Amino acid sequence: MKKLFLSLFVISFGIGISAQKSVAQKVSELLAKMTIEEKAGQLSQLNSDWEDLTGPILQKKDEDKVALIQQGKLGSVLNVRSVAQTRMLQEYAMKSRLKIPLLFGQDVIHGFRTSFPVNIGQAASWDLGLIEKSERIAATEASAFGIHWTFAPMVDISRDPRWGRVMEGSGEDTYLGSLIGVARVKGFQGKGLGNIDAVMATAKHFAAYGAAVGGRDYNSVDMSLRQLHEIYLPPFKAAAEAGVATFMNSFNDINGIPATGSKYLQRDLLKNKWGFKGFVVSDWGSVIEMVNHGFAKDKTDASLKAILAGSDMDMESRAYIESLPQLVKDGKVDIKIIDDAVRRVLTKKFELGLFDDPFKFCNDERQKQQTNNAEHRKFGREFGAKSVVLIKNETQILPLSKSTKTVALIGPFGKETVANHGFWSVPFNDDKERIITQFDGIKNQLDKSSTLLYAKGCNVDDQDRSMFEEAVETAKKADVVIMTLGEGHDMSGEAKSRSNIHFSGVQEELLKEIHKTGKPIILMINAGRPLVFDWASDNIPTIIYTWWLGTEAGNSIADVIFGTANPGGKLPMSFPRTEGQIPVYYNHYNTGRPAAKSTDRNYVSAYIDLDNDPKYPFGFGLSYTDFSYSDFKLSSESLTANQTLTVNVTITNKGNFDGEEVAQLYIRDLVGKVVRPVKELKGFQKIFLKKGESKTLTFKLSPESLKFYDDDLNYDWEEGEFDIMIGTNSNDVQTKRIYWRK
Ligand code: BGC
Repeated sequence: MKKLFLSLFVISFGIGISAQKSVAQKVSELLAKMTIEEKAGQLSQLNSDWEDLTGPILQKKDEDKVALIQQGKLGSVLNVRSVAQTRMLQEYAMKSRLKIPLLFGQDVIHGFRTSFPVNIGQAASWDLGLIEKSERIAATEASAFGIHWTFAPMVDISRDPRWGRVMEGSGEDTYLGSLIGVARVKGFQGKGLGNIDAVMATAKHFAAYGAAVGGRDYNSVDMSLRQLHEIYLPPFKAAAEAGVATFMNSFNDINGIPATGSKYLQRDLLKNKWGFKGFVVSDWGSVIEMVNHGFAKDKTDASLKAILAGSDMDMESRAYIESLPQLVKDGKVDIKIIDDAVRRVLTKKFELGLFDDPFKFCNDERQKQQTNNAEHRKFGREFGAKSVVLIKNETQILPLSKSTKTVALIGPFGKETVANHGFWSVPFNDDKERIITQFDGIKNQLDKSSTLLYAKGCNVDDQDRSMFEEAVETAKKADVVIMTLGEGHDMSGEAKSRSNIHFSGVQEELLKEIHKTGKPIILMINAGRPLVFDWASDNIPTIIYTWWLGTEAGNSIADVIFGTANPGGKLPMSFPRTEGQIPVYYNHYNTGRPAAKSTDRNYVSAYIDLDNDPKYPFGFGLSYTDFSYSDFKLSSESLTANQTLTVNVTITNKGNFDGEEVAQLYIRDLVGKVVRPVKELKGFQKIFLKKGESKTLTFKLSPESLKFYDDDLNYDWEEGEFDIMIGTNSNDVQTKRIYWRK
């Protein structure tokens, strides 16, 4: 039996190697035939100008790109998204000398045909299974539209809600962000490249893009290598270990070097130390932008620095196409460097199966099937509801009775369509018809005998108060007012940094006017980032945070409002009290003068005019029901190096609804050779409990979870005391102390 097993193992292992070899061999054979111009082409990606999805295919547009494709001087095109268009371009590629198929890339960030909650909202679900499934669906739909490659997941950690791209990430925490990143990679790549419904994923933006100074997009980053390794790099490393096919570098300079020109990041760390075998694509024009950074003197110099640093593919700069051949001819770039980059790109094309059939993803039937998939929408509706965070429900007005006689929906987002899609949605011509508005969602679930009134009240971001009166009159007629406020879907996203993250325009004034009517208000906040809504927090007893929820937004929202779904989302970022508090994050250091209470002011690390703690802490979120934590037990208070700590806690649903809770486990390493955060998330479990039900959860903690980077970047743990904390959010925990011996 053993022998049989061994020989089977040898055979299958042998097949594995020879299959691998054969791709490697095929790549080598192809490489040997390629001119340097063709190689430079494989390392170049250009944007498509074939944007119009339903109009005629614009064959004549941008002849230059068509010519490049036909000459075999372009490896990839981004933003082509339909079978017809990808087929057309691939046909051009098949006219080239070596018939190397094109790769089609697209930002599939929070869904494709079916859009899902913006990523920070997804993260608020703390539900890795749902997140993975959403990417599986996105990949299935995108691949049916001819797409091979998505520029996602964005795994940038950010502690700065001024930065507009927090909407695309998983928030402030490295542990949560790493797990979500891996779930997304798995979702996109499915059973592996080569399957018809798998797309290549991209871990981006490498690296530390989310730490832009002042929260201003594209801005510089300067931080210790220790912090880089501890906070910002782990999600990238986790994605690499999960087999992500590609990486994208970032626009920012970091510690004085543009990431695109960073050999340390791309070659030394990613490729050599982490052993990453895929390829690195630049961000849009980031190669040529090294001239603006003052790091390269011209396009040629930028190409030289980028390729030497390990940026394999140039997105949109046209720097590689134009400069690499000459750089090689002049002896400035060793052909081996080029060959390594081309090999990485070609390997992926082979793995996708494009050499066997370049038109593999051009299947009209599949595209039709995935154009309006009811199952996907159903999932989107559930996922939307799971992303909602209940911030306040003091008067228990939620869930709202469907028989409430007159409800008024007031605010600029009530009848919005495409806004619900969120910033990174992929536009389709029928968007307006297929997106469920908040008004329609609520209307469909209210009893037939009830009335839903609507008033816009104001615009998102101007000073126009002319609609106030109508809104106030509408509110007066209602028993309950649902106010839908926030920031426009296009106010968070790329290049959408904000210095002021309060409600924009006159929205807060409108809220105050409606408040004066004395009508009960349910405030619904739409946003792609944590907003500051202090007046509302202090005056409105009922608040739900809905982010932007996607195609099914209106239904998801109505499910939450009327209680078909009980919200269980938890904030993946701390919500500041005001902008001056930014960055505010839960895993800060204690400092030499910690404020014992968040309100302490006197000669401690504090503001003289503001509390230290955030308005809402990381991990916070309520439910229509109540959970209690009891019987918090540790397997031991004194452990040795080869032991595992078992943590038990019992959670009871003592309220009146079934619901979900995310139990969070934090640790604190009390003394270290470098200072350690006051809390670090090390585990969480999301559980469903029927009303009255109790469950005991078990967490395991090994010394691996205690490791950190010291000043010399050694990654290890130290003997000593640790606090073990468990609770419903980062602020509300029970603590026990242990000693862990080495
Ligand atoms: C963004 C990337 C994106 C790329 C292609 C850039 O501006 O930073 O995240 O993938 O454009 O659309």
